[in-house]
Amino acid sequence: MFFARCPPAPPSPDGIHDQIGLVQLEAQKTTLAFTVQGRCLSNDPSSIIAGMFLFQGQGFLGTRAPFISDVSLLLMLLTAALFTVGWRLAVRQRYELHRRVQTIAVVLNTIVVGVVMVTSYVIFILPGIPDKLDEGSYGITTIHALLGLASVVLGVYLTLGGNGLLPQRLRYANYKLWMRTSYLLYMLATLLGVLLYVIVFVYGI
Ligand code: HEM
Repeated sequence: MFFARCPPAPPSPDGIHDQIGLVQLEAQKTTLAFTVQGRCLSNDPSSIIAGMFLFQGQGFLGTRAPFISDVSLLLMLLTAALFTVGWRLAVRQRYELHRRVQTIAVVLNTIVVGVVMVTSYVIFILPGIPDKLDEGSYGITTIHALLGLASVVLGVYLTLGGNGLLPQRLRYANYKLWMRTSYLLYMLATLLGVLLYVIVFVYGI
């Protein structure tokens, strides 16, 4: 983690930028703030601590990404592959194996989203919403996050149902349509995630 220049922070209500780790340089209209791998960090203490531990260390794919983002990219590609294998198993009517493969994929996907992506969104992006939606990668990350959230909610719901863990009143009919929709959402979220990785960590936008 470094101490570096970030774009100017919006003025605080009292006009004083004295939050932890943040010093407003009035003359230059820039802000000295904590950055992790070149990205400005939200300046609240919990974000700084999360950034210090989770997003430390250079990645291994030769981009600007931190180690955890490279791991996350590979795990998300793995879950996309598992979802596709699971889909083909259903087409071949191997339903028991289909249920197991999709359950593993949903659990793995949900863990990565919860640990890496929600944290990254909260500390790097959320502080700029809605003001910076049209700047840098804020907009595409937010579209990705909303699509990803819809995928996770539907995926977890279907997985609970498929494993007999839903109460009677929450069970679903027409499961084929919902499972197809869920697969499409997961694939779209993955595609947008890969695009996001390229935009942020290859082009540095
Ligand atoms: C099905 C669900 C999702 C899939 C398949 C998915 C996929 C991906 C992939 C492949 C990446 C690039 C690897 C990386 O940088 O970590 C990524 C990045 C990211 N995603 Fe998701 N994502 C999903 C859900 C979400 C949700 C729900 C959020 C926010 C609440 C979110 C926020 C982000 C953020 C902020 C990044 C950049 C992470 C970083 O700093 O490394 N994603 N996503």
